[in-house]
Amino acid sequence: LKFVCVSNDNIDEHMMWLIGLKNIFARQLPNMPKEYIVRLVMDRGHKSVMVIRRTTVVGGITYRPYVTQKFGEIAFCAITSDEQVKGYGTRLMNHLKQHARDVDGLTHFLTYADNNAVGYFNKQGFTKDIFLEKERWHGYIKDYDGGILMECKIDPKLPYTD
Ligand code: ACO
Repeated sequence: LKFVCVSNDNIDEHMMWLIGLKNIFARQLPNMPKEYIVRLVMDRGHKSVMVIRRTTVVGGITYRPYVTQKFGEIAFCAITSDEQVKGYGTRLMNHLKQHARDVDGLTHFLTYADNNAVGYFNKQGFTKDIFLEKERWHGYIKDYDGGILMECKIDPKLPYTD
């Protein structure tokens, strides 16, 4: 099992993983238009942290780092159906936080969580209270009716992964 962070860079193996992840999102997020999923997963401004077993994608999180604003917007998050509730979602989020802090220099995450995923995001340290100053994110992330805006502060020192 490995955790990787890739974006659309034309490397064959990375493209295979991104397509696998796009297929998981399409299945697990049925309310999202498929073209929208493809567009963001393949967008060069987005990155995807994924769990890979051998050559198969188990799940992942696609996010957009706003480096000057020091926050990331999580666009999609999913684990393939037969691997849910085994702890992969938590490990994935920890790898995302570590990467976002140490590589992108981010301090916070924002996401529009689906109603049914609020419990998961709560357990990952996300709250419905937004502490980030509005000037830092307003106008950067798009309003989205189908979810609840949630925020997570990334600890500046905590080792999130071993
Ligand atoms: N509601 C409440 N609690 C949940 C949910 C949920 N939907 N899913 C997981 N949890 C809990 C687990 O019970 C576990 O609690 P515990 O630590 O007390 O045992 C904890 O959250 C972590 O569970 P994991 O096993 O790490 O989570 P999993 O690997 O299943 O990943 C995920 C969670 C990504 C939500 C997965 O279930 C999934 O893909 N669901 C379908 C797609 C989805 O809803 N994605 C999020 C949409 S919102 C967005 O993408 C921005």
